[in-house]
Amino acid sequence: MKVLVTYNLFHGGFTELEEKYEVTFPKERTFSRQQVLDIISDYDVLCPMFNFEVNKELLDKAPNLKLVSNYAVGYDNIDIAYCLEKGITVCNTPSATTLPTANLTFGLLLDVARRITYCDKQFRNLGQSLKVGLLENMANSVTNQTLGILGMGRIGKAVAERANAFGMEVIYNNRHPYDIEEETRYNVTYVSKEELLKSSDFVSVNAPLTSETFHLISTDEFKQMKNSAFLINTSRGPLVDELALIEALKNGEIKGAGLDVFEFGLHPSPALLEMDNVVLTPHIGTQTSEARIHMAQVVCDNVIGFFDKDRRIYRVLHP
Ligand code: GLV
Repeated sequence: MKVLVTYNLFHGGFTELEEKYEVTFPKERTFSRQQVLDIISDYDVLCPMFNFEVNKELLDKAPNLKLVSNYAVGYDNIDIAYCLEKGITVCNTPSATTLPTANLTFGLLLDVARRITYCDKQFRNLGQSLKVGLLENMANSVTNQTLGILGMGRIGKAVAERANAFGMEVIYNNRHPYDIEEETRYNVTYVSKEELLKSSDFVSVNAPLTSETFHLISTDEFKQMKNSAFLINTSRGPLVDELALIEALKNGEIKGAGLDVFEFGLHPSPALLEMDNVVLTPHIGTQTSEARIHMAQVVCDNVIGFFDKDRRIYRVLHP
């Protein structure tokens, strides 16, 4: 089997794969798109990074391709429908990404609520003259507040567990409600999207990007949210209409936001950079050394398990 990996990173995770198959990595950090297009026809397996587009143009040049093992839980970089039509299996890495992403989600929630980054900046700038404890520095509680989770998959559930530990009430909206056992296990209650927006003190977006979830939160949704609410997004940027978010923040329709992803890639709109009530991180949901190596291991497990049937693989079943 010939395996093409589009990045030369996290080698620690690829040992077993290299022992079993002929694996090609780029000499530089990543292959360019053109380099992949030029050689893909020889390969049985493609392991792309989450920002490498696997579209019709590429798939049509890959007659031998049997498997795409994505380095991410998200798979909006891959034309899944076309892969399935061509009989190509697509796998992702949920087991390695769930907890780090849930941790960052909760980190952003705590940060915007308790104004951690804001206070840090003020402290550095103003030092002893900072009005610590005065009314203008008041933050928001997390305990006894309501967290609304939009998209209750693995990451949503892990966020709910963290929120439970902090004494929050957790409501959720999902394509399908869970049964009572599952709801009891995560101590969560299903509500309509409208009810969730109306009642939440924090809204966390944890759904994948699909044609149905594009701009899941836009002007109408911000109008339904509490003026005191915070939005947290660690999923994919285009789930939130960024211009509508900026308007909502400017007009005081919501109180703040914690964002790890942006509508236009790693380019947050300049207005967001000016806002003290917004915490921004550059898509670091899984950016720990441990998680990144673990993701590489899951990428490899998906490849080996697909051919050898000796372990569990994470197959993406529908677009
Ligand atoms: C990261 O964004 C991922 O989808 O794993």
